[in-house]
Amino acid sequence: MAAVLRPDLLERLAVQTTERAQAQLQRRLRTISRVEGPFVESSGQRLLAFCTNDYLGLAQDSRLIAAWKQAANESGVGSGSAHLICGHRREHAELEEALAAWTGRERALLFSTGYMANLGVMQALLKHGELCVQDKLNHACLLDGAQLAGATLRRYPHADVDAAARQLHSDTEACALLATDGVFSMDGDIAPLRELAALCTREGATLMVDDAHGLGVIGDDGAGSVAEAGLRERDVPVLMATLGKALGCSGAFVAGSAALIDGLIQFARTYIYTTAMPPALAAATRCAVTLARTESWRREKLNSLIHRFRRGAEQLGLPLMPSRTAIQPLLLGDAQRALEASWALEAKGLLVVAIRLPTVPQGQARLRITLTAAHEETHVDQLLEALASLRLADASV
Ligand SMILES: Cc1ncc(COP(=O)(O)O)c(C=O)c1O
Repeated sequence: MAAVLRPDLLERLAVQTTERAQAQLQRRLRTISRVEGPFVESSGQRLLAFCTNDYLGLAQDSRLIAAWKQAANESGVGSGSAHLICGHRREHAELEEALAAWTGRERALLFSTGYMANLGVMQALLKHGELCVQDKLNHACLLDGAQLAGATLRRYPHADVDAAARQLHSDTEACALLATDGVFSMDGDIAPLRELAALCTREGATLMVDDAHGLGVIGDDGAGSVAEAGLRERDVPVLMATLGKALGCSGAFVAGSAALIDGLIQFARTYIYTTAMPPALAAATRCAVTLARTESWRREKLNSLIHRFRRGAEQLGLPLMPSRTAIQPLLLGDAQRALEASWALEAKGLLVVAIRLPTVPQGQARLRITLTAAHEETHVDQLLEALASLRLADASV
């Protein structure tokens, strides 16, 4: 018998971790011991955070907490099983109805996370070798979903509709899904949704939009980037969004026709083979949907803070990226420079994370600043003052 020469998997992983640390690209886990509005406490230090995705400031709303408690009192904590066994409770059904109504879709289907929703949709819709065309800056789980499905993944340069058309045209016979973030998670800009919808109609492709960062933030009643673009179910047959960002909860949903939802219930493995989210979470999320739709002052306040920040940052000559959403990145380029800026802000009591390779391309490291309705004007001014003192405009961090 031949000698076994197999490398040890854990040793290899440890080598990769060391290499990442040597390249100064190591990710660091931070434990937050307390949250109070936009403030967090970490290692005994109180920090004003500009990195949460709780864009409407709903995560700590007393009405969500009351809805959670009441449902937990009535239904317990865990759902007890997958949706298709006996885990699908009244609270889930009511939330799905509320989400379908909000997004103007026939039906909606809950998933436990956005990552799972995207994997499930892609694996249910696409077969091996079929075409999945995606924006280069799409979220990692859309890319992973195409790979899991065994689809042929073709990426186009960011927001380049002509390039997307060329990718679709590379195979005019295979079934094709074009997937894009609605609001790009690391850049904050909005996809050219109308143009992409027109392209998909021409090419007989299905358009899928992941509106994780648009829902709640964009559009008159916060229905998201697809609604703001005036696109309906026939234009965007597959709409996905998460519940853990502007809604301040956790989980995700896919909205579309009854036929889409029925098909996902049958074939989306990340829906079928997993425990349904806690019913109390669904109840709290339904409360969040009502508040996000009706309390438009949250969007107005957020937008006014966004304007204040951009005006101030422009005056300081900071390297702002073009974005009108809650995500306001400052492009610093070099990973070390972004990291040092983040450390310097932390020393001043501000939490702003540096985003580096592999989350963003080489040379495009940035501070991903996010604003929320929980911030006040004084907080934005404090951030601007701290950024001014770092002298980012003249590259001397
Ligand atoms: C665009 C986008 N899609 C999907 C996800 C994944 O959602 P979840 O955190 O619910 O898994 C995220 C981020 O978390 C995201 O930014």
